[in-house]
Amino acid sequence: MKYQSQAVAKPYFIAAIGLFVGQILFGLILGLQYVWGDFLFPEIPFNVARMVHTNLLIVWLLFGFMGAAYYMVPEETETELHSPKLALVLFWVFLVAGALTVLGYLLVPYATLAEMTGNSILPTMGREFLEQPTITTIGIVVVALGFLYNISLTVLKGRKTVISWILLLGLWGLAVMFLFSFYNPDNLVLDKYYWWWVVHLWVEGVWELIMASIMAFILIKVTGVDREVIEKWLYVIIAMALITGIIGTGHHYYWIGTPEYWQWWGSLFSALEPLPFFMMVIFAFNMINQRRRDHPNKPATLWAMGTAVMAFLGAGVWGFMHTLAPVNYYTHGTQITAAHGHMAFYGAYAMIVLAIISYAMPILRGREAANSVKSQVLEMWAFWLMTVSMVFITLFLTGAGILQVWLQRVSDTPMSFMVAQDRIAIFYWMREVSGTVFLIGLVLYIWSFFVGGEERKLVPMAGGVGAASSPAMRRVD
Ligand code: HEM
Ligand code: HEM
Ligand SMILES: [Fe+2]
Repeated sequence: MKYQSQAVAKPYFIAAIGLFVGQILFGLILGLQYVWGDFLFPEIPFNVARMVHTNLLIVWLLFGFMGAAYYMVPEETETELHSPKLALVLFWVFLVAGALTVLGYLLVPYATLAEMTGNSILPTMGREFLEQPTITTIGIVVVALGFLYNISLTVLKGRKTVISWILLLGLWGLAVMFLFSFYNPDNLVLDKYYWWWVVHLWVEGVWELIMASIMAFILIKVTGVDREVIEKWLYVIIAMALITGIIGTGHHYYWIGTPEYWQWWGSLFSALEPLPFFMMVIFAFNMINQRRRDHPNKPATLWAMGTAVMAFLGAGVWGFMHTLAPVNYYTHGTQITAAHGHMAFYGAYAMIVLAIISYAMPILRGREAANSVKSQVLEMWAFWLMTVSMVFITLFLTGAGILQVWLQRVSDTPMSFMVAQDRIAIFYWMREVSGTVFLIGLVLYIWSFFVGGEERKLVPMAGGVGAASSPAMRRVD
């Protein structure tokens, strides 16, 4: 570790992984309830398990982003964190509040929870992803403000890099867009209109900035490529992300009672949204090709490249598949949506967090740069098991979705929702099997942390790091 205060990232990363396990367990419960309707009923109804699954996802990703920021910002700014103590206090506040919220979901009926937590005074509850009780929502804002204060002051006092500016912009954007969860109009059209300002403008807007900056940070570290080269890519990627993503919000405005012009604006702009994700692939592979060093942490490089590819597939390709209004007319709210949601969230955000954890954790645990070969091999197995099973989950849900659209919406004799669901149950069984393999991958991932052995050290590439004679060096310019 170059800076002592980077150590506060460690509990954030550990909590992220712990909550990730919880998310997947609830995913498996949901998957089973899909084919075995009264599994765990009435203890854990589907709607509650779904809420826990998606809320844990968001919360562990937030822990991951915060950990990433606490790790990256001291190194980028070349100064200690403004207040490591504040970072640790906020960690516990966020963890305890998160745990109490999930317990609330599981132990108290949702309507009672709403009553108990003051939803009648300031209504915020009841919308997908934003189910948190009002007091939790306020708590999130407090934690976010403390976090941003800490990170922003650190950036202001230290060296200013493009990576830390973009990270900061993404994190501030995340917090600002979240404020729309306090706006809860009675008019459903207005409600949905602004709900997407949180959900869409997060994943197809400001989170892309966070993702791009983490990616750039890891690529600089593992490839040794010049910062200037990386920064040029970053500018173009984030400009593309914002230009396409902001008006691209219109792809959620087709059928909710907003004006018809959104069908054009939404289709045109969101059809361009795959571009920044595609550029991220070219960026990652280009940097790896131009690398000036062979970093001993192989899994970190693998996660970074995997993120670029899987984000492009999940967000870019699977997003494009149903983003044009005439297609979305048929696919809206079907398993096609779920297929895309899974691969995009995993490919872009789960994987970028796992990538930075993979890079930073060995260093946070006192190694020079990387774990032992044995531990790395196990981690790469985990990478492939999780990633390939997510590909299968996506493919099975896509199969289910195509049949669902056909049976329920296109056919001359359309079936009702539940009858169509029964016909496609085989896909849900196969999704559950893939999900179980995913969990095995995740267990191996955690196991790899506990595998010892002689750590791999930094070694200069043939020709020496940065030696002018190195062929890798010549390719840089
Ligand atoms: C990493 C980035 C992305 C993530 C994490 C993501 C995630 C999601 C999720 C979870 C949903 C379901 C929301 C709901 O509950 O209704 C969704 C819907 C949707 N996404 Fe994405 N998405 C991403 C990028 C994209 C991109 C780039 C496109 C277009 C090219 C796209 C097109 C769509 C469309 C059209 C819908 C609405 C589906 C429907 O009508 O049911 N997404 N996305
Ligand atoms: C590995 C086993 C997993 C299983 C069996 C599983 C299963 C499910 C199920 C059954 C739903 C509810 C769909 C519905 O409402 O009809 C769901 C929703 C969701 N899951 Fe998973 N999940 C798993 C892993 C993941 C992972 C790894 C991620 C992201 C990193 C994820 C993200 C989501 C999201 C974003 C939604 C909401 C989707 C939407 O609104 O369209 N899940 N999951
Ligand atoms: Fe969207």
